[in-house]
Amino acid sequence: MSATLQLPQLDTTQPLIVQGDEEQLYRMIANLVMNAIQYTPRGGDVVIRLNQDKKYALVEVRDTGIGIPAEQQAHVFTRFYRVNRDRNRKTGGSGLGLAIASAIALKHQGKITVQSQVGQGSTFILSLPLATV
Ligand SMILES: Nc1ncnc2c1ncn2[C@@H]1O[C@H](COP(=O)(O)OP(=O)(O)O)[C@@H](O)[C@H]1O
Ligand SMILES: [Mg+2]
Repeated sequence: MSATLQLPQLDTTQPLIVQGDEEQLYRMIANLVMNAIQYTPRGGDVVIRLNQDKKYALVEVRDTGIGIPAEQQAHVFTRFYRVNRDRNRKTGGSGLGLAIASAIALKHQGKITVQSQVGQGSTFILSLPLATV
């Protein structure tokens, strides 16, 4: 691991409660955080922020890593898809992490979106419906 991990930054003062399978929710966020660390060269940053809008808890995982070309961003959630296999050979992933994460999000009525610029970094935003308590 080479990136600096800043954990977590809270942009909300309220506890955010979501309902779901704890193990799956953990795995989903872990996959996003592991990617951020894996695809960020030494000296970079990984920041995790928690936020909310009206109905959703928002978990933002942002890195200053290698980024994802615009035309490939839609594909990274597909099973076994890896941006430029050569580029990723070192990291030895399976191309399943984001497919699993987005399937878990969908199962919890949520979703994951990505914004990224090559050489600048990537931001993955996970939104999950807030539990109505
Ligand atoms: N934070 C990130 N920064 C840059 N590229 C990423 C990031 N997260 C995912 N990717 C790209 O998306 C592809 C799919 O991610 P994932 O499903 O987790 O598979 P892998 O096992 O390759 O990590 C990765 O191979 C990588 O090219
Ligand atoms: Mg991965």
